[in-house]
Amino acid sequence: GWTMVNIAEESIEVVRAQVGDKRAICGLSGGVDSAVAAALVQRAIGSQLTCVFVDHGLLRKGEAEQVEKDFVAATGVDLHVVDAQERFLAALAGVTDPEEKRKIIGREFIRVFENAARDIVAAHADSGEVEFLVQGTLYPDVVESGGGTGAANIKSHHNVGGLPDDLAFALVEPLRTLFKDEVRALGEQLGLPSEIVWRQPFPGPGLGIRIIGEVTRDRLDLLREADAIAREELTRAGLDRDIWQFPVVLLADVRSVGVQGDSRTYGHPVVLRPVTSEDAMTADWARLPYDVLQRISTRITNEVREINRVVVDITSKPPGTIEWE
Ligand code: XMP
Repeated sequence: GWTMVNIAEESIEVVRAQVGDKRAICGLSGGVDSAVAAALVQRAIGSQLTCVFVDHGLLRKGEAEQVEKDFVAATGVDLHVVDAQERFLAALAGVTDPEEKRKIIGREFIRVFENAARDIVAAHADSGEVEFLVQGTLYPDVVESGGGTGAANIKSHHNVGGLPDDLAFALVEPLRTLFKDEVRALGEQLGLPSEIVWRQPFPGPGLGIRIIGEVTRDRLDLLREADAIAREELTRAGLDRDIWQFPVVLLADVRSVGVQGDSRTYGHPVVLRPVTSEDAMTADWARLPYDVLQRISTRITNEVREINRVVVDITSKPPGTIEWE
């Protein structure tokens, strides 16, 4: 019969046959697709796989740690972490245009990943060449990019198309025939932590496109705190699987007057953008219960310095997009 156990076992065999005794590299983004692809390939070829995690400093609270600790604990994968936070901040300094931010983040990502890949190739020069690049391309990505390699997939910064010729890899794409729900089932089958398996879709440029205005370390810290509170309260209310995505957006260049304690404040607003959706092509604003919104608002304004106002986005897609940038 058609079960996840069969899919896992079959895919593991296919990867083993493809890679043989060569080596492979996999970029981890913190998202479910790359995590499941890496876990599967790890089962297939073990220590012949090296994973690379570029910490660009734009992830949500706890996500880098989940990759560095929980994912490694669950899979035993050989992980190479690159702390590139300063580099990304420097590259983003003064930039406010959304598409410019995307371009810079994508470009820096490729460069950092490329350097890491070179180091790994060099380190394994005598023990069999690194020849394969693992990607978490899903079936919908294959269809979107016209049945190609998935290199056009915007979710994947570390695609083969962006790597230089002397680092030419063959692709390993073990999730190419699967849909998202099947990938999640496979992730559970492979024993991945549910925080990773059930993670909301999260854009590659991360919190960089959820700060309206320039991206700075202080602003990232504020947004990370507010976002963590919103996610925590959503989870506490048992609503994680009803909500497709729940961006929290920092309006960093807007200030409004407030009163906190007994003093006047002049702080920033955050926007809550919970949506329901099937595929992100269209979306509806989520009717979160008032008491959940109330708890999020109270906690954010009490706990996050400099945020004195919480507003809810009630725009569907179309005309609004899910993200604000
Ligand atoms: P929008 O905002 O266009 O988003 O309604 C649709 C879906 O795509 C995600 N998104 C991105 N994902 N890189 C990504 O990897 C991006 O630059 C990007 N922009 C938007 C968004 O989170 C939603 O799931």
